[in-house]
Formats: sequence, structure tokens, C-alpha cells
Amino acid sequence: MNQKKKIIIIFFGPPGSGKGTQAAMLGEYLKLPAISLGELFRRESLRKGKLAKTLKEIMSRGKLVPQEIVEDVMDKRLREKDARAGFILDGYPRKKIQLEKLSERLRKILKPDDHALAILVDVSDREVKKRLSKRRVCACGAAYHLEFKPPRQRGNCDFCGGRLITREDDKPEVIADRLKLYHKENKPLIKYWEKQGRLIRIRGEQAIGSVKKDIIAALKKELK
Ligand code: AP5
Ligand code: MG
Repeated sequence: MNQKKKIIIIFFGPPGSGKGTQAAMLGEYLKLPAISLGELFRRESLRKGKLAKTLKEIMSRGKLVPQEIVEDVMDKRLREKDARAGFILDGYPRKKIQLEKLSERLRKILKPDDHALAILVDVSDREVKKRLSKRRVCACGAAYHLEFKPPRQRGNCDFCGGRLITREDDKPEVIADRLKLYHKENKPLIKYWEKQGRLIRIRGEQAIGSVKKDIIAALKKELK
């Protein structure tokens, strides 16, 4: 792939569709940072203070974090040096105002030959529930699945050895609320990328490796 041009990839998909899993692998492949806003918030929520408390409370209920916090965190992260050649976003934009902010940002940083593409990982609500009920995560950001992506040592992270836990928002009642919110907010965002001819749809209900292969094959066509 031509890596001289700036590449921006935006992952869309319901909670548990595998955005984080695929964004991290694609980041390694393209040597670009994979930025998950949810992950940045989770890390912040482990600190002390008012912001951490607010984030913990909102995220445990599966609600959206207030817009001013979102843009502030996003702004700081995208100013970091590693994002200069491009970046992969997972979980942003999540509503119309965020799409407007992102479009504004892309207008400023992209040259005509650069790439900005969206990838939708298509997964049914039924599959989401199956995946999230058996997800385990580490504070370092790594995510596992007890069946489909088990850690090498039961209960511990492959990367840092940390203890694996269930995310607060992976409780069945919170999953249902997150799915409702996703279906409500996401449609216009997908439509926007589709209308521009810059949306790649990927069949998410395949093994992790097959999803990855499909994403790379689709990107190879687009990023010539
Ligand atoms: P965030 O962390 O982004 O949560 P999400 O969008 O609900 O998505 P998930 O992280 O739950 O799922 P994923 O698609 O990344 O799937 P994963 O790869 O882990 O956001 C959390 C919260 O932060 C939000 O609720 C909100 O409060 C806040 N927030 C974030 N962004 C915001 C924004 N823009 N505005 C306002 N608030 C915001 O995979 C899931 C499981 O399935 C894992 O166990 C994995 O191992 C497994 N798996 C993955 N792929 C496969 C496969 N192909 N086959 C089988 N299993 C698979
Ligand atoms: Mg994620």
C-alpha cells in the first residue's frame, strides 16, 4: 500500500463487533496508532478526581460521555506526534456533532491525495450479546474472549500479566442500552460515508483472522 499519503481510517460497528480488535491489528499492519476513545476514557477513569468519577459513572451505564470532554480528549490525542502520518479511530464519531467536528478537522489536515475511509464491521445484535458476555479485558487495554480469543494463561493478560476483568458495561442490561443507542445515533454517520463512496462494509461474523483478511484486501483496493 502507498504509505506516503496520510491515511485516516474510521471504524464503525455496534458494541462488541470487533472494532477494537481489528483496529489494533490494522494499526500494527499500517504502522499507525489505533485510537479508541472508549479506551482513553477507561484509562482516565482509573485515576483519581472528578473527571474519573464522571467517566466511570457514565460509562458503566453505557451512556455517551459529554461532548466537551470528548472533543478535549480527542484533540489532545490527535495532536500527539504518532498521529501525524495518519491514525485509526475506533468509536469516534458516534453522533452527528462529532462527525461535523471530525470533518472540520480532516478538511484542515488532509491534502487532496490523502485517504480518509470508513470501515463498518457488520455484526448482528445476537452475535454482539454472545461476544460481550464472554469478553474479558485488562487495564492495559488488551481484550480477550473466553472462547474465540482466550489468553494463554487463564485470567491473566498475555502482554502485561495483569488480571483480566469483565467490563462494567458488559452486563446484559447495559449491553441492551448500548445497542439501542448505537442504532439510534449511527445511521446518519454511516450514510454520510456511504454517500461519499468512502464506506467499506465488512462481514464481521467470521473468525477474527478472516475479518482481518477482508479488511486488508478491501483497503489494498482503495489505497493504491
Ligand atoms: P467503547 O469502548 O468504544 O465501546 P463500544 O463501542 O461499545 O465497543 P466495544 O469496545 O464494547 O466493542 P468493540 O467493537 O471494540 O469489540 P472488541 O474488539 O472488544 O466505548 C465505551 C464507552 O465510552 C461508551 O459506552 C461511552 O460511554 C464512551 N464513549 C466512547 N466513545 C465515545 C464517543 N465518541 N462519544 C461519547 N462517549 C463515548 O470485541 C468484542 C469481543 O468479541 C472481545 O471479547 C473479542 O475478543 C471478541 N471478538 C472480536 N472479534 C471477533 C470475531 N470476529 N469473532 C469472535 N469474537 C470476536
Ligand atoms: Mg472497543
